[in-house]
Amino acid sequence: MPAPVKMHPVEQILRQIRFDKSAQNLSQCPPDDGSEIAFAGRSNAGKSSAINRLCSQKTLARTSKTPGRTQLLNFFAVDESRRIVDLPGYGYAKVDRSTRDAWQKEIDGYLSGRECLKGLVLLMDVRHPLKDFDQMIIQWAAQANMPLHVLLTKADKLSYSAAKNTLLKTSKQLANHPAPLSMQLFSSTASTGCDEAWDKIGEWLDLPVATA
Ligand code: GTP
Ligand code: MG
Repeated sequence: MPAPVKMHPVEQILRQIRFDKSAQNLSQCPPDDGSEIAFAGRSNAGKSSAINRLCSQKTLARTSKTPGRTQLLNFFAVDESRRIVDLPGYGYAKVDRSTRDAWQKEIDGYLSGRECLKGLVLLMDVRHPLKDFDQMIIQWAAQANMPLHVLLTKADKLSYSAAKNTLLKTSKQLANHPAPLSMQLFSSTASTGCDEAWDKIGEWLDLPVATA
């Protein structure tokens, strides 16, 4: 009989995650206490897919082939004091200007005002890293001294060596980042890089991970 596959302890905890609430604006966010981490990135980068994969759920966060799916800040509760937030994607051109400006304002307000935010997961498509919006978030994290963990997503779309090259090149470009920064390859569809991401989430949310 094959030995049972050992589950990452953070994976086990994240399986309990539940949808908490959607907030259209800052006043609708849950109270600013406990610990929170947020997933940010351009529209279509794969934020909702990554959350679903890391929480072993198919439909927790709604994903879409159409960019701009997530138009609210969606809060997911790991337990009573720990949350994961799916932020609406930046840079989606098809919504009208005023809607886009309104989201942007809410995301900016969330990032700069949220005391319980422990770290930001920035997702970038491995085929198009460091676009304008990404640079903006990276600069914001630098000046706010907010820990940043970069997922270069959709790694399954490139050969292993091409993806690895992008990882090296992008890491080099950010070598002088003055705040905590880590980076990895990730694929929701191929389940690449989950262990590394779980390690980081466990650290930031200070999850009560039993050490065997
Ligand atoms: P917004 O909510 O619009 O900001 O998008 P998002 O960043 O949440 O992206 P979402 O998770 O909805 O994924 C967008 C599209 O990319 C969907 O068609 C996904 O199936 C696809 N996708 C996401 N992750 C991966 C991946 O790792 N590999 C591949 N091949 N496709 C992916
Ligand atoms: Mg989404």
